Amino acid sequence: MQAIRNAVAEEFEIVNQLVIAELHSEVALVESIGHYIIDAGGKRLRPLLVLLCGKALKGSTQDIAQFAAVVEFIHTATLLHDDVVDISSLRRGRPTANAEWGNAPSVLVGDFIYSRAFQLMVRMGNMDIMALMADTTNRIAEGEVLQLERAGKPDTSEDAYFRIIEQKTAVLFQAATQGAAILANCDQQTQQAAKSYGHHLGMAFQLIDDVLDYTGDAAAMGKNVGDDLNEGKPTLPLIHAMQHGSVLQKELIYNAIESKSSENIAEIIIAVNNTGAVEYTKSIALAHRDKAIASIANFAECEQTIQMHRLADLAVQRDR
Ligand code: IPE
Ligand code: IPE
Ligand code: MG
Ligand code: MG
Repeated sequence: MQAIRNAVAEEFEIVNQLVIAELHSEVALVESIGHYIIDAGGKRLRPLLVLLCGKALKGSTQDIAQFAAVVEFIHTATLLHDDVVDISSLRRGRPTANAEWGNAPSVLVGDFIYSRAFQLMVRMGNMDIMALMADTTNRIAEGEVLQLERAGKPDTSEDAYFRIIEQKTAVLFQAATQGAAILANCDQQTQQAAKSYGHHLGMAFQLIDDVLDYTGDAAAMGKNVGDDLNEGKPTLPLIHAMQHGSVLQKELIYNAIESKSSENIAEIIIAVNNTGAVEYTKSIALAHRDKAIASIANFAECEQTIQMHRLADLAVQRDR
C-alpha cells in the first residue's frame, strides 16, 4: 500500500489536509463525529484511485485532489449510514459512531458530510462531475435499499447479488476513476476505459469484503467478522455454499439467513470453507481483477499505471 501511495505522495497529502479542513462546522457534535470517523483513517482507497488515474491521465493536481476529497467524503457518509443500517459496532478499529453516539447523530452527520461533498463540487464548478456524482450517490442509496430488500432472503440469486454489490460499492469506484478522466479532459474512449477499471476493481473489492466477513480477522480488518450473517445478507459465499453443501449445511445457512442470526457462525464458516465457496468467490474476484487491468491496457505506461495494476492485485489479496 505504501508503494502505491508513493506514486501520488504529494497529492495524497493535499487530499488528507483538504478532508480535515473541509470537515469544519460551527456545530460541535458535527465536528466530533466527523473527526472521529475521518481521523480513524481507513485505507483511503477511493481517493488513491482518483489520484493515480488522474495523474496517469495528466489531470491538474488541484482538480484531482479536490475530487478525491469529494469521493472520500461520499464514502465516509455511506459508512456512517451503513453502520446504522447494518447495526455494526466496530469500524476502523473503533466502536462505530452509532455505537458511540447513537443512530440519529450518525445519520445526521452522514447527511452533513454528503452535502459537504456537494458544496465542494459546486466550488469546483464542473457540471459533468456534478452530474456524475449526483447519479452515483443516488445509485448507492438504491443499492443499499436493494440490499435491505434482499436481507433475510436465502433464495437470492447470484445475479441479484451481483446487482447489489455493483450498486452499493462498484459505482463509487467507477465514478472515482471516470471522474478523474473527466477532469483530465479525456476523450470518451479513455473515460470508458477508466470507468471500466474502477468498476471491475470495485466488484473485486466487495467480493473479497464478503469473503473476509467469514474468513477474516477482526483485529486486522478493524470491523467484526460475522456482521453479514447477523444482518441475514445472502452474499456469494453463502449462496455458493447452499448450492454445493450437504442438505444439513444448506438448511443451516438457509435458516441463519432467514432468521438473521449468527448463532451457528462457527459451523457456517466450516461450510463456507469446505464447499469451495471461498475459492469460488475469490475466483470471480480474480476475474474482475484481470478485467480491471485489461481495461487500462491502452494507458501510457508510467509509475501511476504500474501502481494501478498493483492496486488491482491488492484489492483481491488483502486481509483488511
Ligand atoms: C468499506 O470500504 C465498505 C465497502 C465497500 C466494503 P473500505 O474497506 O474501503 O473502508 P475504509 O475506508 O478502508 O475504512
Ligand atoms: C458496504 O457494504 C457498502 C457501502 C458502505 C455503501 P458492507 O456493509 O459490506 O460494508 P462493511 O462490511 O460494513 O464495511
Ligand atoms: Mg456494513
Ligand atoms: Mg462487509
